[in-house]
Amino acid sequence: MKRARIRFAGREIEFINREVALKYIEELAERGTYPVYVVYGPEGCGKTTFLKQAKAILEDYSYHVVYTNPLAHEEKEILMYTPSIHDIVEEVFKSLLDPYSRIVDVSIKIASIVMRKLRKSRIAILMDDIFQAIELDKAEIYTKTLLNLIEYPSGDYEKIVVLVSSSEGVSRERIGRHRWADFYILWNMSREGFRKLYEVLPDPKPSFEDVWRIAGGNPDILEKLYRNNWSVENVIDGFIRSRKLEHFIASLSEKERGILMEAIEDPDTIFKRLRESEVQQLEKKLIEMNLIMDVWERESRGWIDIPPPEKDTELGIGKYYAWQTPLHREAIKRILMQHNNI
Ligand SMILES: Nc1ncnc2c1ncn2[C@@H]1O[C@H](COP(=O)(O)OP(=O)(O)OP(=O)(O)O)[C@@H](O)[C@H]1O
Ligand SMILES: [Mg+2]
Repeated sequence: MKRARIRFAGREIEFINREVALKYIEELAERGTYPVYVVYGPEGCGKTTFLKQAKAILEDYSYHVVYTNPLAHEEKEILMYTPSIHDIVEEVFKSLLDPYSRIVDVSIKIASIVMRKLRKSRIAILMDDIFQAIELDKAEIYTKTLLNLIEYPSGDYEKIVVLVSSSEGVSRERIGRHRWADFYILWNMSREGFRKLYEVLPDPKPSFEDVWRIAGGNPDILEKLYRNNWSVENVIDGFIRSRKLEHFIASLSEKERGILMEAIEDPDTIFKRLRESEVQQLEKKLIEMNLIMDVWERESRGWIDIPPPEKDTELGIGKYYAWQTPLHREAIKRILMQHNNI
């Protein structure tokens, strides 16, 4: 199987591990998706990278792929497509003044022209992080528009795959209530996969166990640790500042802070006390701020790759809720402790 080339910590490497997810994409390539598939997971768990690898697999299966990531740092990654549809993309781009400003609409347009012009073909639309770039109402509209591509195509297609990625907790609540999309969780990397990624980085470095305990398999945190000379303090400080976590904690009631302290020990506290209105409010906020996720049964087909263990208190993973990573939990814990000492 072709492995996508990935940029990681300033080097070019091959896509690592995630064997279950890759098999799943092959399965989707065989049968297509219905309805829209939303790949949802902790921030930095590897969604963008996974979609890039999915593009490579789908192309192996003769799909014409349109991939867009409106938030990509590099312009060449905002829109990527299979060379077979180059002329169509050119044509669409020529007809618009500033196609990059409306890249999601433009990609949908490209897909629908491909359907019309290349009849009976295989087509895949991969939309990375589109919900983060737009307002929530629009996210719902886009999901419906994507479903329309499947249900009411502009031309006959042989197979279609529509994958959208998101790390926005709110999108799951808003979009998940319609029949337009099914959600699948891509969790942080398994221990085995994460170890392979850790091995890519040069010595000297902390032991694998130490890194695993704070990153919990999250490749973005691994990269951040490496870039900060392995200073956990720096990475946590940066996280606290960028999320304004001090303000967040200060805005909570004493009771909410108490519940949060318990959730640091065991995130399932939230589930057990969900009848209390303050717990409900807190749960919403934590999900909205991408600090925790609600996770479902590990056996279901709702996972793209290997699910996390049923419970792992060391990593902050419960049966019903999980901290996105141990570092997220650690950051909150520090601010809570400081707050209590004021
Ligand atoms: N399977 C993998 N093999 C090799 N590198 C990976 C893999 N998954 C992720 N990475 C690396 O980890 C980093 C974070 O991954 P990525 O950007 O895909 O996460 P993300 O879930 O899209 O993050 P965000 O929530 O910020 O959009 C990237 O630098 C990427 O190169
Ligand atoms: Mg991403």
